[in-house]
Amino acid sequence: MPNCLTVFVGRRILAPLVAGFLVLGAQAQDGSSLIPRPQRMTTGEGSFSLNASTRIVHAAGQPAVQAVADHLAGLLRPSTGFALPTGSAAQQSGNLIRLEIVSKDSSLGREGYHLSVTPKGVTLKASRPAGLFYGVQTLRQLLPAAIEASTTQSAAWVIPAVEIRDRPEYGYRGAMLDVARHFFGVADVKRFIDLIAAYKMNILHLHLSDDQGWRIEIKSWPKLTEIGGSTQVGGGKGGFYTQEQYKEIVAYAAARHITIVPEIDMPGHTNAAIVSYPELNCRDTTHALYTGTAVGFSTFCTSRPGTYKFIDDVLRELAAITPGPWLHIGGDESHVTPKADYIQFMNKVQPMVSKYGKQVIGWDEIAHANLQKNTVVQYWADAGNSKMAVKKGAKVIMSPARKAYLDMQYDSTTRLGLHWAGFIEVDNAYQWDPATMEQGIGRQNILGVEAPLWTETIITMDDIEYMVFPRLPGIAEIGWTDPAQRDWKEYRVRLAAQAARFRAMGIDFYASPKVDWKQ
Ligand code: ACM
Repeated sequence: MPNCLTVFVGRRILAPLVAGFLVLGAQAQDGSSLIPRPQRMTTGEGSFSLNASTRIVHAAGQPAVQAVADHLAGLLRPSTGFALPTGSAAQQSGNLIRLEIVSKDSSLGREGYHLSVTPKGVTLKASRPAGLFYGVQTLRQLLPAAIEASTTQSAAWVIPAVEIRDRPEYGYRGAMLDVARHFFGVADVKRFIDLIAAYKMNILHLHLSDDQGWRIEIKSWPKLTEIGGSTQVGGGKGGFYTQEQYKEIVAYAAARHITIVPEIDMPGHTNAAIVSYPELNCRDTTHALYTGTAVGFSTFCTSRPGTYKFIDDVLRELAAITPGPWLHIGGDESHVTPKADYIQFMNKVQPMVSKYGKQVIGWDEIAHANLQKNTVVQYWADAGNSKMAVKKGAKVIMSPARKAYLDMQYDSTTRLGLHWAGFIEVDNAYQWDPATMEQGIGRQNILGVEAPLWTETIITMDDIEYMVFPRLPGIAEIGWTDPAQRDWKEYRVRLAAQAARFRAMGIDFYASPKVDWKQ
């Protein structure tokens, strides 16, 4: 509950100061509109003022903490215009934001944090740098929305006195970007990473290959990108990431505590690879680059040893530039691969991923194969497949298309997107619980949640933002917040309060009629 005195005093003092700056959202916050909602929060008396003498400090000899401090300073400098120096704290007095790694507080887990704001200072504690990073995201939202602007704003930079203890419900909280149907360059992917990081997501799954395009340089098979990367849906010029660019994306994500999950979809969704190297196919069909949006017509030749040599090379090169634990091998909609061949194929490819030290993720159809001990199944369409996977001992990532697909239209008038899984309004995308959605898939079977954005109809960054916002913060909350603390009627008020932040970040969001944005 907001502290009434704080809010009252805050309004009286702040209103004259911020007059004229309300458009960008310069109002003081009271902590009640945080997304994701924190596990425990109490409000105190007064507030902390960020000012020209504020420093961000931490103990000496902690480069990963220094990185979080620099990240925080980097977020706050453009709009405040303050210097905000960071560094180890020889001097303990002054206007300080203190970041601390604590070893004793085991209740915070790997990603939790403890944020304490008083008029005297801000202290953020966590057992690991990731927790500090998530505390920083909370701190951002406790400042006026104008903090998100890229140019200097005049606002009273106050943070309400609060005490927050917080940790996530799930360890895997992701979004997926399909860069195969339409290609998105490094700058767009970095912006996407920044946007999901603000809501405490920790996974970006990149769908790097499909019928319409191959988007990652494989040095031993150069035609994949030369030919397979040369176009996209609609016939545009396509594109691909060099391995150096991919590493740049991986590093940018890592600096935001986000792990990249690369996907090479197989044995179906492989037209771009087959056109580049026709020997990968053994069906009697013509091979041409494809710029339409049909699915299910391509397959690798599962009986040829050469196919597995190719896959081994691709997995080896991809594993070498992917520090995260997962390689996603697709496996969805292989409609022209005979079922027995599909099973045999997946049985062969899983150990190849393990050989390179990685763990397999596959779309739910992969449940038909023998699942390796640590193969993870991504539920998108078929609950039966996903339950079968659970029976086989697999963990599940929950991405049910009818709830979590960000490419579904909001309603019949949405100018972008598809609707084969239904129209998904903002309330619909929020109102589900991964752990109770399907009998036979319980909390203990679930690794986490992921919201995929397929890009058949999505061409620009603006398009991405319109489909992702405002649904993605809701999926992020499903991944982070205890379901007992989630309620649409309460959430929609918090979501309305995020609009000023979306605007300050330059996000072209869908102003859903389900939310009273003027609230
Ligand atoms: C999928 O949407 N084909 C995984």
